[in-house]
This record gives sequence, C-alpha cells and structure tokens, in this order.
Amino acid sequence: MPLLLCKDDVVKVLNMADCMAVVEKAFAELASGTAVLPLRTPITPPDGLSLYMPAYLKEMGALACKVVTVYKNNPQKHNMPTVMGKVLLQDHETGDVICIMDGGYLTAVRTGAASGVATKYLAREDKGQIAGIFGAGVQAKMQLWAVAEARDIARALVYDVSSDAVTKFISEMGSKLDLDVRAADSPDQILESADIICTATSSPTPVFDGSKVREGTHINGIGSHTPNARELDTAIVKRSKFIADSYEACLKEAGDIMIPIGDGEFDKSHMYAELGEIVTGTKPARASDQEITLFKSNGLAIQDTATAKLVYDKAVEMGIGNKAEI
Ligand SMILES: NC(=O)c1ccc[n+]([C@@H]2O[C@H](COP(=O)([O-])OP(=O)(O)OC[C@H]3O[C@@H](n4cnc5c(N)ncnc54)[C@H](O)[C@@H]3O)[C@@H](O)[C@H]2O)c1
Repeated sequence: MPLLLCKDDVVKVLNMADCMAVVEKAFAELASGTAVLPLRTPITPPDGLSLYMPAYLKEMGALACKVVTVYKNNPQKHNMPTVMGKVLLQDHETGDVICIMDGGYLTAVRTGAASGVATKYLAREDKGQIAGIFGAGVQAKMQLWAVAEARDIARALVYDVSSDAVTKFISEMGSKLDLDVRAADSPDQILESADIICTATSSPTPVFDGSKVREGTHINGIGSHTPNARELDTAIVKRSKFIADSYEACLKEAGDIMIPIGDGEFDKSHMYAELGEIVTGTKPARASDQEITLFKSNGLAIQDTATAKLVYDKAVEMGIGNKAEI
C-alpha cells in the first residue's frame, strides 16, 4: 500500500537544512560512483512535454523517478497548471513503489539545496554578507533560503522585471527568514554590493553584465537549462571558476555554457569541477578571496531521489499522509 503525500504534507516535513544534508550526500555519491543517473528522458505528446527523471543512490538506499510535465494549454483548456510533477519512491530492496508524492515544492527545495551546498563550499566565509537574487518567483525564494542556511547573511537584494513578484518576495521571505530583504532598482545595484548572487529567472537572455561582477563573488545560476537559453553572459563564464552540477548536463542542456562554447569563446576543458568533486574534496574549492566562483545547476534526479527518501522517512515517522490500496 503506497503512501500518498500531497503538497501540504511535503511542506510540513521538508526543511532546507535537512534537504541540504541529503543533497550533499547525493552529490558525494555521484562523485564516488555509487549513484546511477541516466539523463532525463523527454517524450512529446501533441499537447506537451513529459520528462522522466530516474535515479538510484546506493549508499542512501534511495530509488525514485520524478515525472515532470509541461503542458502550455493546460490553464485555458483544463484549468490545470502548466508545470506539474510527481515523484514515485521505490523500496530499493523489492522495487515496490512505496510512496507517491507531489513534486512541485520538493523540486524547489531540492534546487535551493544544491545551491546551498555549492554556497557552503564555494562562497567566501566572512560574516554579514549580502545576497543578491535575480528573479522573485518560486525558485528564487528557495535560493535565498538556502544561501541564508549556508552563510551569515546580513541583507538580501532582489531584482525582477515584475514589481508585483518583488513585493510578494520581500513580504514572504523577509518574515520567513527574519531578514532585511529589499528591492534592487537595477541589475547593477545587485552587482555593486552582493557577495553571493543567485539567478533564478525565466529569462532566455543574460540578466546582468558579467564584466561588472565584483571579485570574490560566488554565483549560483539555476534558471535556464535548455541549449538556446542563458541567464549568464560569456564574460562571467570566462571570468569564473566554473563548477557544474554535472558536466554531461551542462554540455547537453545548458545554454549558459553551450552558447559560449559554440561561439568559440570558451573551451569545455576550462570547466573546473563537478559539485560532487568539491564536496568529496577530490578538487579544492575556492582558492582565494578574489576568485569568482560559479555553480551551474541544471537540476539532477539524484537531488529529487535523495529528497524524496528524506520526505518519506519523515512522513512515516510523523504519521503524515494516506495509504492507498492499489
Ligand atoms: N536548475 C534547476 O534545478 C531548476 C529547477 C526548477 C526550475 N528551474 C528553472 O528556474 C527558472 C525559474 O523558475 P520558477 O519556477 O521560479 O519560475 P517563476 O515563473 O516562478 O519565476 C521566474 C521569475 O523570473 C522573472 N524574470 C524573467 N526575466 C527576468 C529578468 N531578465 N530579470 C529578472 N527577473 C526576470 C519573472 O518575472 C518571474 O518572476 C526557470 O527557468 C525554470 O526552468 C531550474
């Protein structure tokens, strides 16, 4: 009898600190060779896109597959959201599906968690840093939560082309994190003061001028992950120590890196490390307080699988969710 967990159930049991801990372990497993991570598989029915994201983490005993769909006509035709996701968690010893859970909130938290882990290892360590967030949507909120878990943040600045989104972001995240969160009037205002930058927008073109980023900044780029879209310009990719969530995903999915490579401006041999190599200490992290570090996240199924196992274990412990006869 699988356990069914709706979004509210997932919200109740999942917090950023716990998620960062399991996502860090998942990246370590990827680097150590105990993770199985096929590339996501797309299927395109006439009205939409369906993506299958399976992964297995041997040390964690976690086996799962996330199904994400993007159906642009859903809101008008069916009064349903454009993007939906569910995770099927399996018992890794029997293969049986033991839990079906909502994947929306889980995706946002696990995406934040990867940036949190990258920030923990790569950002400068001084106290009272300023976080600069590009985008004020679903993912951006989780980026700020994760950065605030990883470093001592004195203040956050947020920039979005939608002022409504910024107003909501400030009110929600200011009180959730008990943090001074302010609107930035322009991208440059963020570049002038931020120590840690997250880009979490839906923009297909660069959101700031990479030549203006201050030395010593750490950047988490999580938004674009298709070959023709990018949030980061060639200047910042060239100026940074580049850390990928996965080389394979960056070279097949990330316009941020594929466009500069296609233009002959960047060679893939200049990608410094995968996050797992930094976490396991195979490659050293930041070398100086002047270096700019850049983590490019495309979103990996190991993050979903580790997080789904965490959510399930906590839900069982707390007696949350409903059992279904199938
Ligand atoms: N890396 C990952 O693992 C991962 C996971 C989930 C989503 N994503 C990606 O993250 C991005 C954001 O997703 P979301 O769910 O937060 O979407 P969202 O629609 O909730 O928010 C996106 C925000 O970006 C803003 N924006 C667009 N162009 C901008 C610009 N030039 N400057 C500043 N703000 C701008 C929009 O106004 C909007 O508020 C998408 O590209 C999505 O595909 C990545």
